[in-house]
Amino acid sequence: MRLRNVKGSQEKILENPYTIQTDGTNGEDYRGLWRKNIFKNDNPIHIEIGMGKGQFIMGLAKSNPDINYIGIEKYSSVLVRALDKRENLETDNLMFLRMDAEDIAEYFAPEEVSRIYLNFSDPWPKDRHAKRRLTSSQFLERYDKILAKDGHIQFKTDNRPLFDFSLEEIKEAGWTIDMYDFDLHKDGPAKDNIMTEYEEKFFNQGKSICKLICHRD
Ligand SMILES: C[S@@+](CC[C@H](N)C(=O)[O-])C[C@H]1O[C@@H](n2cnc3c(N)ncnc32)[C@H](O)[C@@H]1O
Repeated sequence: MRLRNVKGSQEKILENPYTIQTDGTNGEDYRGLWRKNIFKNDNPIHIEIGMGKGQFIMGLAKSNPDINYIGIEKYSSVLVRALDKRENLETDNLMFLRMDAEDIAEYFAPEEVSRIYLNFSDPWPKDRHAKRRLTSSQFLERYDKILAKDGHIQFKTDNRPLFDFSLEEIKEAGWTIDMYDFDLHKDGPAKDNIMTEYEEKFFNQGKSICKLICHRD
């Protein structure tokens, strides 16, 4: 994603009641406390890592009021775009967390998260950057720490090398792949699927979209 410095984004994020800004050092203020202190209910927690401008997670939050959603985004300049759209959403079941997902296991307790969405994650094509890919074994280890026993991960991308890497990495980590598809929209837009901003763009360009769902045993 091309990053531009959006003036005032830090301030906008700090002022917004649905957004939490972290520097990676105050995990104990949130770990194990999301339901009790933030959402104030016992509903399951689903997160999207690298949510970008948030179209996908806002669509989910609107349709599923009994799920607590948290959209995680590393950059303020991107997250601030989601805030403008969030204003039109009359729901309390969606929070945004500005954080590098590397710190995720500090901010969620074991089994606190029931589902993780990864959509069009940055591919990091160079081998030496493989550990930064959100489906790398290093990230799977972090997800393993926070995912509920019956929890799972859903991953979509247009990037075939990243998808192939992810299938391998997931198998090598001993997780189970429940489904995978190299062309999710081959028969037209897939049913029960909310398109992300990137997905919409690539679909309109005629690119194949890959999807997988996996869980660890
Ligand atoms: C290619 S964009 C996709 C955005 C959105 N998911 C979509 O499908 O339209 C990837 C996003 O992931 C974010 N991202 C990348 N690495 C991240 C990390 N370690 N932690 C949190 N967000 C990250 C980027 O800043 C960017 O907004």
